[in-house]
Amino acid sequence: MKRLTTLALKGLSFGLAAMISFGASAAVQDGMSKDAIAKRIEPIGKVRVAGESAANEAAASGPRSGEAVFGQYCTACHTAGVMGAPKINNADDWKPRLAQGMDTVLKHAINGYNAMPPKGTCADCSEDEIKAAIEYMTAEI
Ligand code: HEC
Repeated sequence: MKRLTTLALKGLSFGLAAMISFGASAAVQDGMSKDAIAKRIEPIGKVRVAGESAANEAAASGPRSGEAVFGQYCTACHTAGVMGAPKINNADDWKPRLAQGMDTVLKHAINGYNAMPPKGTCADCSEDEIKAAIEYMTAEI
């Protein structure tokens, strides 16, 4: 009888230990996966689905002008024509591209296109802001 009780106690404490260590490792895993999730969603959070929080942001600070976006982001490549980027207000560079239609050109600018980086590196730009920058770059054509 005494033996049985000891065995039962041993079994119980083993069970407790197992539960505690399982709980602890589950907590560690949970902590790790939260970090991993935070890392994974970070760049996605910056890209944003059209019209979602970009609209909120625009409401808070107002959309940036095409000139402002161009001057901060696009000029790095589109002023000198780096890597074959169509130069600002250069009709020869832009005419064949604009012939694709604004929807296509805008889609390329948003998603990236060969050496053209997605959103021209303006990760928090809304679609409208990218479009305004394109219009600014092609206003004199
Ligand atoms: C790192 C350099 C770089 C930056 C910064 C950059 N672009 Fe570009 N962009 C390019 C290159 C290179 C091309 C030509 C890609 C090709 O046709 O292969 C291009 C092409 C484009 C096109 C034409 C797409 C088409 O369909 O032909 C548009 C529109 C455009 N960029 C918009 C922008 C806007 C708007 C910005 C700023 C928000 C910007 N780019 C910033 C390099 C850049």
